[in-house]
Amino acid sequence: MPVRIALIGTGSVGKGVLEVLSRKNTGIILTGVADSRSGLMDPGGIPVSSLLDRKKKTGLCGERSISALKVVTEGEYDILVEASPTDAVTGEPATGYIRAALSRGSHVVTSNKGPVALHYRELSNLARENGVSFRFEATVAGAIPILHTLLDSLGGNEIHALYGVLNGTCNYILTRMAEEGLSYRQALDEARALGYAEADPTYDVKGIDAAVKLVILANTVWKKEITLDTIDITGIDLLTEEAIRLAEEQDATIRLIGEIVPAENLYRLSPRIIPKHHPLVVQGSLNAIIVRTDLAGDLIFAGKGAGSLETASAIIGDILSIRERYAGGN
Ligand SMILES: NC(=O)c1ccc[n+]([C@@H]2O[C@H](COP(=O)([O-])OP(=O)(O)OC[C@H]3O[C@@H](n4cnc5c(N)ncnc54)[C@H](OP(=O)(O)O)[C@@H]3O)[C@@H](O)[C@H]2O)c1
Repeated sequence: MPVRIALIGTGSVGKGVLEVLSRKNTGIILTGVADSRSGLMDPGGIPVSSLLDRKKKTGLCGERSISALKVVTEGEYDILVEASPTDAVTGEPATGYIRAALSRGSHVVTSNKGPVALHYRELSNLARENGVSFRFEATVAGAIPILHTLLDSLGGNEIHALYGVLNGTCNYILTRMAEEGLSYRQALDEARALGYAEADPTYDVKGIDAAVKLVILANTVWKKEITLDTIDITGIDLLTEEAIRLAEEQDATIRLIGEIVPAENLYRLSPRIIPKHHPLVVQGSLNAIIVRTDLAGDLIFAGKGAGSLETASAIIGDILSIRERYAGGN
């Protein structure tokens, strides 16, 4: 049974989704698409390869007269796939798109952390009231299916604690500082040159990006209602080469670790000295997560926390699981 999607955002993540649709026979049909300046709707299906060509040549995915909001409110689709930029302060414009889609009875899949971190309770209630799904696997740890695992596969467990390396840019910088003795500045410049860090890396290196992921985990897995202010945040921007060198002398290293221990009311993100053989000591831009459970014991996950196809993997998984769940109806 084919499923129709409208895609908002054709940047790195959106293009990854389109590439998967063009490469694989997923049964997913694109009936709407929009970027910051244009949009396109076709209930019969939009050919993906010519769309990718047009975006590459003109910078636009559709017509200037069609806005993203028009695609969301007027398009014919079953699932809105929302992949516009994250605004961790307002959550907009993505939250508005998501609200509009859920209110008209369409499912939503998003990679956008803002709406989930700021408005999870409201949006999940709205989805329930309208008999649809709101899924956001791609918002935490990219390709690692951590939310699905915690919410579904480990449903019979009590999750006592979660520890994780949740920001690939910071992990890359820390890896390079330890491996090559680079200064923080040199490692950051290298991360920028390789495209791991943004021109303005504040959001990553001050720990905001990883802390937002902790908020999402706490509010969805443990049903808390915390905000960014609840998290005790220390980034890596003030870390010295000396600190890394001292850790190395003890056969240890430094990683930016997010911690959630709900029974202790502990929500913290900080650089921690950990032994080199510890499972959270992953290299380069990888992410890693340990969860401590009552039945399954300790579980370890590692993999790509970002990237075009890696993030698309999480999005496509959400789309297909919605199709599976609602097969035969809706
Ligand atoms: N990149 C990753 O590996 C990754 C991983 C996990 C989660 N995410 C999240 O996924 C989302 C997309 O990330 P990305 O890396 O693909 O970002 P990106 O490369 O900056 O692309 C953003 C896309 O959104 C479009 N856009 C901008 N403002 C818009 C608006 N007001 N309405 C509709 N569309 C708008 C842009 O349009 P133009 O093309 O016209 O500029 C562009 O196509 C972000 O929320 C990000 O935090 C990214």
